[in-house]
Amino acid sequence: MNLVLFGPPGAGKGTQGSVLAEKRGLMKISTGDILRDAVRAGTTLGLEAKKFMDAGELVPDSVILGLVREAIQDAGSGFIMDGFPRTIPQAEGVDRMLQEMQKSIDAVIVLEVPEEALVRRLSGRRSCPNCGAVFNVYSERPKQEDKCDRCASELVQRADDRRDTVVRRLEVYQQQTSPIIAYYQSQGADVHFINGDREIEDVQRDILRIVDR
Ligand code: AP5
Repeated sequence: MNLVLFGPPGAGKGTQGSVLAEKRGLMKISTGDILRDAVRAGTTLGLEAKKFMDAGELVPDSVILGLVREAIQDAGSGFIMDGFPRTIPQAEGVDRMLQEMQKSIDAVIVLEVPEEALVRRLSGRRSCPNCGAVFNVYSERPKQEDKCDRCASELVQRADDRRDTVVRRLEVYQQQTSPIIAYYQSQGADVHFINGDREIEDVQRDILRIVDR
């Protein structure tokens, strides 16, 4: 099963994708996570990507397409694409790639969340720089304040979760990313819309219903 998990910043793609990957043995391919790893490692790619990410802008398509090829190839039992594709050229690029590899996308799941909720979620998000676990000061509080439940590392706020950057990321989503939904619909892809503004478990149940059909 190959899926695209789609939605604006803060819609819950990472949260839902991680649970789903674990439950159904799929590989989660998150371009955001790959880029943040590169930033942390201080690689040339990371240094270049950081400028775009901190400004809430998209990293150039050529860089992104190069990054995902290997991950898609390695995804034996299926993948969940989280935060990718993000532009029409990326969607076209991944289609070509999948065709070459004789793979295809089985479903596109769009998480819908109102903008006020997105801004609140992003401003409340805290992440573990060590193991990648994600919490939220409003909804998914860690047991001990500012400490990761899994590895006890100090939680941090993502640099691009500052309010002005969040506003820009939401604009970029509307302008450059949301047209991909119409792109997949025009191709006859299996596109599903899910209300993502509910408890995490309720959203997951609806996603599993689609995946397990
Ligand atoms: P990326 O990391 O992909 O960020 P994003 O798409 O903006 O998505 P987020 O990670 O912010 O949100 P999410 O939907 O995963 O929500 P989450 O589950 O964490 O990209 C970052 C940057 O990298 C981009 O801006 C760009 O610069 C670059 N980039 C990445 N991919 C790229 C690409 N393909 N092309 C070009 N550039 C690219 O949840 C958010 C918070 O809400 C958490 O605290 C969580 O605990 C909480 N939460 C989740 N679900 C619920 C719920 N149901 N109820 C209440 N709280 C919830």
